[in-house]
Amino acid sequence: MCSAVLLALLLCVLEFRYAECGNPSNIVFILTDDQDVLLGGMTPMKKAKSLIGDAGVYFSNAFTATALCCPSRSSILTGRYPHNHQVRNNSLTGNCSSAEWRKGPESLAFPVYLNKQLYQTFYGGKYLNQYGKKGAGEVSYVPPGWDQWHALVGNSKYYNYSLSVNGKEEKHGDHYDKDYLTDLIANRSLEFLDKRSPQHPFFIMLAPPAPHWPWTAAPQYEGAFSGVKAPRDGSFNKPGTDKHWLLRKALNPMSNTSITFLDNGFRKRWQTLLSVDDLVEKVVKKLEALQLLNDTYIFYTSDHGYHTGQFSLPIDKRQLYDFDIRVPLMVRGPGIKPNQTVKAPVLNIDLAPTFLDIAGFNLSVVNMDGQSFLSQMAPTLRNGSARPYFLVEYTGEGHTESDPACPKLGPGLAHCYPDCVCEDSFNNTYACVRMLTDQNLQYCEFADSESFVEVYNLTSDPHQLENIVKKVDPTLLQAMNQRLIRLQSSQGRWDLDPELRLLE
Ligand SMILES: *[C@@H]1O[C@H](CO)[C@@H](O)[C@H](O)[C@H]1NC(C)=O
Ligand SMILES: *[C@@H]1O[C@H](CO)[C@@H](O)[C@H](O)[C@H]1NC(C)=O
Ligand SMILES: *[C@@H]1O[C@H](CO)[C@@H](O)[C@H](O)[C@H]1NC(C)=O
Ligand SMILES: *[C@@H]1O[C@H](CO)[C@@H](O)[C@H](O)[C@H]1NC(C)=O
Ligand SMILES: *[C@@H]1O[C@H](CO)[C@@H](O)[C@H](O)[C@H]1NC(C)=O
Ligand SMILES: *[C@@H]1O[C@H](CO)[C@@H](O)[C@H](O)[C@H]1NC(C)=O
Ligand SMILES: *[C@@H]1O[C@H](CO)[C@@H](O)[C@H](O)[C@H]1NC(C)=O
Ligand SMILES: *[C@@H]1O[C@H](CO)[C@@H](O)[C@H](O)[C@H]1NC(C)=O
Ligand SMILES: *[C@@H]1O[C@H](CO)[C@@H](O)[C@H](O)[C@H]1NC(C)=O
Ligand SMILES: *[C@@H]1O[C@H](CO)[C@@H](O)[C@H](O)[C@H]1NC(C)=O
Ligand SMILES: *[C@@H]1O[C@H](CO)[C@@H](O)[C@H](O)[C@H]1NC(C)=O
Repeated sequence: MCSAVLLALLLCVLEFRYAECGNPSNIVFILTDDQDVLLGGMTPMKKAKSLIGDAGVYFSNAFTATALCCPSRSSILTGRYPHNHQVRNNSLTGNCSSAEWRKGPESLAFPVYLNKQLYQTFYGGKYLNQYGKKGAGEVSYVPPGWDQWHALVGNSKYYNYSLSVNGKEEKHGDHYDKDYLTDLIANRSLEFLDKRSPQHPFFIMLAPPAPHWPWTAAPQYEGAFSGVKAPRDGSFNKPGTDKHWLLRKALNPMSNTSITFLDNGFRKRWQTLLSVDDLVEKVVKKLEALQLLNDTYIFYTSDHGYHTGQFSLPIDKRQLYDFDIRVPLMVRGPGIKPNQTVKAPVLNIDLAPTFLDIAGFNLSVVNMDGQSFLSQMAPTLRNGSARPYFLVEYTGEGHTESDPACPKLGPGLAHCYPDCVCEDSFNNTYACVRMLTDQNLQYCEFADSESFVEVYNLTSDPHQLENIVKKVDPTLLQAMNQRLIRLQSSQGRWDLDPELRLLE
């Protein structure tokens, strides 16, 4: 009896999982919108890096399973690949906040399970792009699992927006002190912390609009980073000659107006991030003041990356290249030693299982594609199984008619701005296998009229300048194609699927 108690105590101390020791730990999850990691997106985040990453762990190989807001956020919420949650794009018809999403995948999202574990849950900020609109349940709809709900209606904005506050519409104007969204959600989370019940753990999710367009900085940061320009190295202003159709269409070299536009955007994105840096500091200071910091995990990441001039695409995401699919990820919390870097690849679909693992939830009863990375951060008695390869999949967006601003371009394209350079098309639809073992390889197939294939060896070519599809051994291409087919039809964790393991 005594030894059983001792063993439980030992397990709880060694595993740093307070589920076994009584109350599970608290969790704060900060999710930015469009923040890259490869082009200096974390440079403005001085306080956040010092308070989270330096005090815990940086993941140097964190990826999104898809480089677009609504599908990526749906993956984060459900722990599932897009082919399983079936949210394809940012429109209602592509399942973004659709009735089918609400009835199906959203009812199995992580907050539902956390709530069952008696977590007090708080949401603040941008949710899914169509959230709160007609056909998406309107403002009165509060997704299941959230006790306190302060969600933005529609896509990212900094001023002049509506919030759903627990199902009631709250309109905001453009007074900095009252309305600036990044500051507002920080303030509301502090109020939540004051009012929470100390009997139960809490989960706070903060999703600021930054650094998404329209890049509206707080007044005190409007002059910051003057003279800063987008980086000119790597694939900046390079032609996409050996790449898929959309990239071959981009104007190269870019026009001066495009370059001025993207440099401006680059600087303004950084300015908006300074308010996110303040948000992190406010939350950490509050947790410290309430003596909760030592029992709270803090996660910081973005929904996907971003590009400014890479392969002559002025500004956006949606591409298969590392600048769009890599994301920042840092975590601090109980059992995580400071100043660590983890190289094992992790995906956005791993966040939900990691939260549930911290909460002490039995992961074998949830149907998620991701896997917990708790043991990678806080090595314990359990061993994490690193995945040898993973899937990145994307369904291109388009307009069925020509863009009125660029009538010469014809239908099928989207986001042709500035200078009528298009960032997306229906046939920018692809699926990739990424191998990150002793090899760093990417293999992608397009659903277009050319069945186009792109292959990169990122060990020798980190900027993906050369598509080596015609140079590599055909047996390697065949093996990658087999893995892709398996992954695209996979359901659940790869390491539990014997067919997938055979391909290792
Ligand atoms: C992390 O490393 C930096 C530089 O090596 C050091 O200044 C800092 O004190 C370390 N932080 C912690 C929490 O150990
Ligand atoms: C939307 O999701 C439902 C299942 O939730 C699926 O049946 C439907 O095909 C999806 N729509 C699209 C356009 O993928
Ligand atoms: C907010 O809306 C008002 C009224 O339409 C407008 O005058 C103002 O310029 C808008 N502010 C911002 C920052 O867009
Ligand atoms: C946030 O709180 C600070 C400190 O109380 C206050 O000065 C600021 O006006 C608030 N901002 C918003 C948008 O609520
Ligand atoms: C574009 O900018 C470059 C470099 O600043 C300059 O040399 C060139 O003349 C400009 N072209 C046009 C058409 O303005
Ligand atoms: C955290 O610190 C507080 C105050 O110093 C202490 O009472 C508590 O036991 C600590 N909790 C953990 C999980 O270490
Ligand atoms: C988790 O659930 C599975 C499937 O129901 C069960 O076999 C297993 O014993 C459970 N594990 C724990 C630790 O409760
Ligand atoms: C973890 O992995 C190491 C190295 O592969 C092995 O020696 C050890 O026995 C494993 N521990 C557990 C608990 O599986
Ligand atoms: C979103 O996906 C749906 C279903 O595939 C499609 O009908 C619609 O055109 C897509 N929206 C855009 C903007 O591409
Ligand atoms: C991609 O779509 C565009 C617009 O519909 C079309 O003009 C082009 O031929 C297509 N390219 C490929 C490779 O499918
Ligand atoms: C990738 O590049 C590395 C370093 O040059 C090389 O060792 C490796 O063989 C290459 N892999 C393939 C598949 O070309």
